[in-house]
Amino acid sequence: MRILRPNVTACTGLQMSEKKKNARDVFNAWALDYHTKGMEKGHWESVREAFSLIPESGGNYLEIGVGNGYGIAHMARNHYRGGMCYGLDISENMVRVTAERTRDLANVRLEAADFLTWEPPAGVRFSCIFSMEVFYYFADVAAGITRAASLLAPGGMLAVLVNHHTGNPESYTWSDDLGTPMVLWSAREYEDAFRAAGLSDIGHCYLPDRTDQTGTLCTMGVNHRR
Ligand SMILES: C[S@@+](CC[C@H](N)C(=O)[O-])C[C@H]1O[C@@H](n2cnc3c(N)ncnc32)[C@H](O)[C@@H]1O
Repeated sequence: MRILRPNVTACTGLQMSEKKKNARDVFNAWALDYHTKGMEKGHWESVREAFSLIPESGGNYLEIGVGNGYGIAHMARNHYRGGMCYGLDISENMVRVTAERTRDLANVRLEAADFLTWEPPAGVRFSCIFSMEVFYYFADVAAGITRAASLLAPGGMLAVLVNHHTGNPESYTWSDDLGTPMVLWSAREYEDAFRAAGLSDIGHCYLPDRTDQTGTLCTMGVNHRR
C-alpha cells in the first residue's frame, strides 16, 4: 500500500503531532536494530571534539539522550572517573542498551525519562550537562535550555550539540524523513535561548562530523549564578 505524505505546511501543530510518531517510539525501535551503532559512528568525532573542551571534574555530569551510551561511558571512564555520571533517555530500550554497556562502571546512574519533566535526586546539581542530537526533539527547545541551565552548579557548563539546524540545509527534510516532529533553529536562536536562561560566556562553533559536511553546531554556556 502506498502511503501519501500529508502536506505538513498546511497542518496545525496538533494535526502534525497526530500524524507523526513521537521520539520515544522512534528510538525504542532504533535501539533494537543497527541504528545505534550508526549513530555512534556518525556522532563520535564531533562529540570527542566537544569533550576535549570540557574540564575534568569530581562533580556530577548529566547526559541528556544517551542513546547507546558511548558518550556517558567515555565520560565515566575519563573526565568524570572521580565523579558521578547521570544519564537519561526517553527511550527505555536505549537505557537498556546503555546499562549493558556501562554495567562495569560504578559511577553511572541511568533513568528512562523525558528530560522536560525529569527531576534530579535531591540536592544534586551538575558541573556539566551535555547532549548530542537531542534538543530539537523537544516541543519547546527554549524550555529545555532553561531547565538545563537551572540544574547547573555554580560554574557549571551546558553544551548542546545538534546537526539539525538552519546552517545545515541537508537536515531540513529530517523531520519528514523520520516522521517525528523536530524544531529547526539557527545558531543565533540557540545562543539567545542560552542568554535568556541566564547563562554567560556563551559561544558556538562547528565541529567536524562524519555525516554532515556543515559540521555539528555546538553551543556552550556557563552558569555564573549562585
Ligand atoms: C539522535 S539520538 C542521539 C543519541 C546519542 N546522544 C548519540 O549521540 O548517538 C536522540 C536521543 O534522544 C532521546 N530523546 C529524545 N527526546 C528526549 C527527551 N525529551 N528526553 C530524553 N531523551 C530524549 C532519544 O530517545 C534518542 O536516544
